[in-house]
Amino acid sequence: MSGEKIMLILVVAFIASSQSIICPKFQCGSSFPNSNQCIYFDSTNKATYISSCSKGTYCPPTNQANSTCQTVNPKPISRSYPGEKCSSNTNCITGVCSKDVCSGIARNQNCSLNITNNALCEPGNYCDLTLSNPVCTELKSNLAFCTAGDQCIYGAGCYNNTYCLLYGSIQNYQIIAKSECTNAIGYSPYCQSGQCYNFVNGTSICIEAFESPYFDSPFQCYENSACVSNINIKTGAAIQGACNCAKNTEGSAFCAQFVGDYYFSRAIELWEKWEKSGNPSKCNIDAAYTPGCLMSYYKSNDAYEILYYNYLATNYPTYVGADNCTLNVYFSDYLFLVEEYNPINSSGNQVFGLALVIALALA
Ligand SMILES: *[C@@H]1O[C@H](CO)[C@@H](O)[C@H](O)[C@H]1NC(C)=O
Ligand SMILES: *[C@@H]1O[C@H](CO)[C@@H](O)[C@H](O)[C@H]1NC(C)=O
Ligand SMILES: *[C@@H]1O[C@H](CO)[C@@H](O)[C@H](O)[C@H]1NC(C)=O
Ligand SMILES: *[C@@H]1O[C@H](CO)[C@@H](O)[C@H](O)[C@H]1NC(C)=O
Ligand SMILES: *[C@@H]1O[C@H](CO)[C@@H](O)[C@H](O)[C@H]1NC(C)=O
Ligand SMILES: *[C@@H]1O[C@H](CO)[C@@H](O)[C@H](O)[C@H]1NC(C)=O
Ligand SMILES: *[C@@H]1O[C@H](CO)[C@@H](O)[C@H](O)[C@H]1NC(C)=O
Repeated sequence: MSGEKIMLILVVAFIASSQSIICPKFQCGSSFPNSNQCIYFDSTNKATYISSCSKGTYCPPTNQANSTCQTVNPKPISRSYPGEKCSSNTNCITGVCSKDVCSGIARNQNCSLNITNNALCEPGNYCDLTLSNPVCTELKSNLAFCTAGDQCIYGAGCYNNTYCLLYGSIQNYQIIAKSECTNAIGYSPYCQSGQCYNFVNGTSICIEAFESPYFDSPFQCYENSACVSNINIKTGAAIQGACNCAKNTEGSAFCAQFVGDYYFSRAIELWEKWEKSGNPSKCNIDAAYTPGCLMSYYKSNDAYEILYYNYLATNYPTYVGADNCTLNVYFSDYLFLVEEYNPINSSGNQVFGLALVIALALA
């Protein structure tokens, strides 16, 4: 009798939580009535059909709407930040390229907000916009009082909005401020592991990175409850992941990455290597972790490796199983990085990783 009762409760609980995810489908479509049209959204079936645009035009990606081919506008000249490599003055935000490097405004000289807050200052400085006459100001050292992350030295943030703290400096099972543990999968750069965890009682700690307990990846799911991490033995903690739609022909969904999963942990590892290389401090504080600085001071394949894994970590599983038409329109950055990044020439052994991703994407 009691067994039956439990069964009944379980069934009710299951129904209550089974919010099955319905994903819109994305697939190649043939010709549309309007010859200029490249995306047709079928609102009845929630399906998106994509066809290619003729040369010199591109298809602006839309969300649940039609789209038509547009002519490609000439790319604006990309302006480099102080510290980045340049070939002429017009390449630089400050308009000064000196000895192949963009120069910036020196410490204690007047500065102003440009494309970003600190964009005009020399590496090692921020533009103190709280002053009535803002000047380029030396970045604050570890543990110094701060009000924003861009005031702190490279590789540090403004911890709990209080003081500069180097990333990776909080060990497992040490307390971390709750305000620094708000990411959906508990990613926190202040934790040595990259993982934080919020107890129900309001305490937050750093902890070993959670990972997927399932063997096969991508792991197809129909609801968020299918995507639970492994259990941390020491605390009994686990985290609820997310079942996210991919833009593929079947409209299938997959469990998102946990911090300890391959792409995410690889991206963290590669950014740490970049940090330790000392290269970030050669660049303006707003640009130290961007493609511009990476390309200026890393071998291009190493730069693309970081961008590639960063893309996979942040966009997985949206591109999984997407067909060519969808990849071309919605994931052009992905195709670009797959093309540019050559795993054979990088130091680590990621050959398997890339082969796997290509297989998934084109399956
Ligand atoms: C989208 O395109 C189809 C096919 O060309 C057309 O029938 C439909 O009216 C369009 N929908 C909208 C909202 O414009
Ligand atoms: C950015 O700085 C450059 C060089 O000082 C200047 O020409 C440009 O007008 C500035 N842009 C803005 C938005 O302040
Ligand atoms: C810096 O700004 C102050 C206040 O606006 C001004 O008096 C001073 O002349 C400026 N200095 C330079 C070198 O432009
Ligand atoms: C973070 O800041 C809040 C208020 O600003 C404070 O109450 C809390 O104790 C701080 N947490 C830590 C861990 O420093
Ligand atoms: C919150 O719960 C955790 C785990 O049970 C425990 O270690 C911690 O001491 C608790 N914190 C408070 C303030 O009760
Ligand atoms: C998709 O694109 C890849 C690379 O451009 C190509 O090798 C493959 O044959 C294409 N697949 C289809 C179905 O068109
Ligand atoms: C990879 O390395 C080989 C030799 O080490 C070199 O010949 C080749 O050009 C490199 N390829 C790329 C894409 O860097």
